[in-house]
Amino acid sequence: MPYVVAEPCINCRYTDCVEVCPVDCFHEGPNFLVIDPEVCIDCGACEPACPVRAIFSDGALPDPWKGYVELNADLCKRWPAILDEKDPLPNAERWKYLAGKGSELDRTRL
Ligand code: SF4
Ligand code: F3S
Repeated sequence: MPYVVAEPCINCRYTDCVEVCPVDCFHEGPNFLVIDPEVCIDCGACEPACPVRAIFSDGALPDPWKGYVELNADLCKRWPAILDEKDPLPNAERWKYLAGKGSELDRTRL
């Protein structure tokens, strides 16, 4: 079961997950990261690395975020790979604990 990035990443994008992934399966959009399910080897290293607990194995995703499985699979084909950790988004601390930010997702390509 591949791992999936869900809503808490939006507008935060801390990228600690990128640093620990052994197979470079993260792709980057303007305010969110996704995992390529065809590359993910299910090692689980990224899950505890995320400071906002945005990453889940697809079987463990909370019900409201089930749609992120398809979203990761779709957006990873359109967004470039990210191979190195970078600074979080400027307002990450402000968005960190806010729920219901799904509508903030920017799907455009960087
Ligand atoms: Fe990368 Fe492992 Fe996370 Fe999959 S589970 S995205 S391989 S760190
Ligand atoms: Fe997003 Fe968490 Fe990675 S905020 S960029 S999934 S470390």
